[in-house]
This record gives sequence, C-alpha cells and structure tokens, in this order.
Amino acid sequence: MNRLETHGLTVTYGNAVAVENMDVSVKTGTVACILGANGAGKSSFLKCLVGLVPARSGKVVLDGRDITNINACEAAARGIALSPEGRRLFPDLTVFENLCIGGYLRRRDASFRSDIDKVFGYFPRLQPRVQQLAGSLSGGEQQMVAIGRALMSRPSLLLLDEPSLGLAPLIVSQLASIITTINREGLTIVLVEQNARLALRLSHDAYVFETGRLALKGPSSELLQNPYVAELYLGDKSRSEPIKHDSESAGSSLNAGSRAPV
Ligand SMILES: Nc1ncnc2c1ncn2[C@@H]1O[C@H](COP(=O)(O)OP(=O)(O)OP(=O)(O)O)[C@@H](O)[C@H]1O
Ligand SMILES: [Mg+2]
Repeated sequence: MNRLETHGLTVTYGNAVAVENMDVSVKTGTVACILGANGAGKSSFLKCLVGLVPARSGKVVLDGRDITNINACEAAARGIALSPEGRRLFPDLTVFENLCIGGYLRRRDASFRSDIDKVFGYFPRLQPRVQQLAGSLSGGEQQMVAIGRALMSRPSLLLLDEPSLGLAPLIVSQLASIITTINREGLTIVLVEQNARLALRLSHDAYVFETGRLALKGPSSELLQNPYVAELYLGDKSRSEPIKHDSESAGSSLNAGSRAPV
C-alpha cells in the first residue's frame, strides 16, 4: 500500500512554476529519495506536503485520504514531520527546548520525556549537550537536533530535506545509519539529497526531479546502475553510454513527457 501519493502536484510562486504535474508514490515502510540539481523543486515539493506552500493544482493523498493544502499543524497531527533544509533550529534555545518544540502537540503525553531519551539514544552526542544553545552546536550536531525535533512529533512519515548537506563524511555515515534504523523501526521516509550515491543506497525507490518536473523514477538499485544518473548525479564520467529506455530497463522509467534527458 502507498503511504503517500501525489497526483499532478503543481507548486508555483507567483507565475514561476517550481513543481509541475508531479506524480510520486511512496510505499508504506519504505525510503523514497528525491534527487535533483539546485532549483529542481525538491524543497518546494516537501513543503507542499506539509502545508508550508500551497498546491496550485493536483492532489496530495495520505493513506488514501486527500490532504491537499492542509496546514502545517494538521500535517503534524496526521503524522507528517519535516526536517527542513538548513535545519531551521532556534539558535538561542537549548537542545532540549528545540526538541520540545518538535513534540509540542504531545507535550502532555506521558511518553514525552521517554521520547526525548529515545532521541538521545539515536544521537548520543546530544545528551551531554542538552542544555547547550543550539546555535553553538557543530553543523552535524545541529542536523541531529533537527532530525530529533522532527522525531519528537512521533511521525509516521518523515520528510528529510538535505540532511547531509555540508557535513563531514563520518557524521554523514552516522546519519545514514540512523536513517536506516528509524526506517526499519517502521517509519516511512522521503529523503531529499544532493548526495545522490548516499540517497540511492539508503532508499528503496528514487525520483529524479529536473526543473520542477519528474525526469526519471525507479527502484534505487536500478537508478544506481543507470548511465544517465551515473553521469549527471553520481559524477561518473566513464559511464556515458546512451540511456536505456523503458523497454530495455526492468523498472526505472523516463518521463516521456519531459525533456530528453541527454
Ligand atoms: N519562496 C520562494 N519564492 C519564489 N521562488 C521560490 C521560492 N522558493 C523557491 N523558489 C523557486 O522555486 C524553484 C524550486 O526551488 P526549490 O527550493 O524547491 O528547489 P530545490 O530543488 O530544493 O533546490 P536546492 O537543491 O538548491 O535546495 C527555484 O527556481 C526557486 O528559485
Ligand atoms: Mg532545497
């Protein structure tokens, strides 16, 4: 069953189209990644799912229900949490206070405190820094707080926007292992990443956005082998064979309606 579907989703800013006619399906319990260059519409897509920007047209469907243009509070209540690009922490609040903000809707639940401990279980280096101001943390620690804050709402669908951006390889691999862990615990995840190799390794299915449109989709294991993806997104210049089309490839598909990819 699909946890999340978008049908013909279009997001605009004034007359500028950021996301156009986007069809994405995310199966329950999987990780789907979205790849794309700067300005491809990845963040706008995620923001639209949680009501931070409106859908101009099309639909967002969660568990079979139309949730298009719900507001951010309703999105949280329905179990969708976004860890935004750039982390967006409150720098003058402590780690603890930032985590509390993520769990605000459930602040009176008995499990609230144990959920904070659970976040420290995922990210042990945050625990000794619980009273430290978020703005004084390292970039990697800030990213951990941002993901922890999103987890504090006990989401069933987690949207991660560029979690690895600007982080050292060791921290990136720690985050990758946490993403795998929380997915195995049952969370459905949509992962936006410019680190395409990492994203394809962590995910089950992949979508490639190009200037707001869907250029390519398929199982991540297949896209890792796709010459077009290898050349444009994995930086593998040696693999510049012609792209395989639908009939030649087992599962990945080019959006025939969009631009030719090579
Ligand atoms: N608030 C805004 N007002 C006007 N245009 C915007 C706004 N936010 C994004 N855009 C435009 O929408 C398009 C898609 O932007 P978006 O941030 O969704 O891309 P992205 O794929 O997340 O890029 P990046 O990889 O750089 O984060 C871009 O052309 C961008 O300039
Ligand atoms: Mg973005």
